[in-house]
Amino acid sequence: MVVSSAPGKVYLFGEHAVVYGEPAVPCAIERRARVTVEERDDDRIRVHAEDLSINGFTVEYGDGADEAPDVDVAESLVQAGIGYIDAAVEQARDAADAPDAGFDVTVESEIPLGAGLGSSAAVTVAGIDAGTRELGVELPTEEVAERAYRAELEVQDGEASRADTFCSATGGAVRVEGDDCRAIEAPELPFVIGFDGGAGDTGQLVAGVRALREEYGFAADTVESIGDIVRFGEEVLAEGDVAELGQLMDFNHGLLEALGVSSRSLDQMVWAARDAGALGAKLTGAGGGGCIVALDPTEATRTALEYTQGCETAFRAGLDTDGVRVEAE
Ligand code: MEV
Repeated sequence: MVVSSAPGKVYLFGEHAVVYGEPAVPCAIERRARVTVEERDDDRIRVHAEDLSINGFTVEYGDGADEAPDVDVAESLVQAGIGYIDAAVEQARDAADAPDAGFDVTVESEIPLGAGLGSSAAVTVAGIDAGTRELGVELPTEEVAERAYRAELEVQDGEASRADTFCSATGGAVRVEGDDCRAIEAPELPFVIGFDGGAGDTGQLVAGVRALREEYGFAADTVESIGDIVRFGEEVLAEGDVAELGQLMDFNHGLLEALGVSSRSLDQMVWAARDAGALGAKLTGAGGGGCIVALDPTEATRTALEYTQGCETAFRAGLDTDGVRVEAE
């Protein structure tokens, strides 16, 4: 039996603009998905999942395409729950050259699903790491990241960026521009996260920005300006000026708001954080609902968010410099 874990992430800067070739800076956070994998005697897969958004379910299935998972929850939930595990299992089988390996898989995640915190990437990265190790193969981190990216591409019908999987595999702060992903220096970042209990529709939100950008030159300029914030922000990160990073986050949120991807609850949480004295706050991920990220070394922002209308839960999660790691073997 092997247990591996991998972190979720927030976007310090650059979501949406990254779709048009601008750079972005995702950062791993101290919230993890843990995946336990145990090889079976047969070629079947049994998945048990526990998550902030899912009360827990178990499915068991074989390799036959005609064999539907036998489970008593909505089809979409099953797809969300096991799609990534299935793709991770395929990658682990491929990497270990063991096409018929069967597994019992348990997923425990502290990362809400579909809320902009990279939960699917964390599950996929940890699943591939644990699965390959269980089959006696130890992959370099870069290969875990590459295979997790391919797994996400498969589940998401060819629509995935490398940002989430690379960041989850390596940990720390990351710079992403097109296919180029690299780790960058960052000071300790006191992240506070507010979650409205919901999730935006990433495809729809990305399409909305695309339409605005095609219709209005100033919307295209707004996307480019987000790129400028990221380029400037990289220098500020290297200098370690956390207060200025906060200012840039505020600016970034304003531009995302202008592009129509914020929401009332996200704005309410952003303003509650700013009123509480956060150094800066912005939505993270696709928007439309889900999470905001603020910078505050004190308890004030978390406490204020707890009492903010529209905020379901708030928690502190610092920058996690550890990427995928083995928890038990
Ligand atoms: C979603 O987490 C981030 C977006 O930039 C989409 C993407 O990069 O694929 C909105």
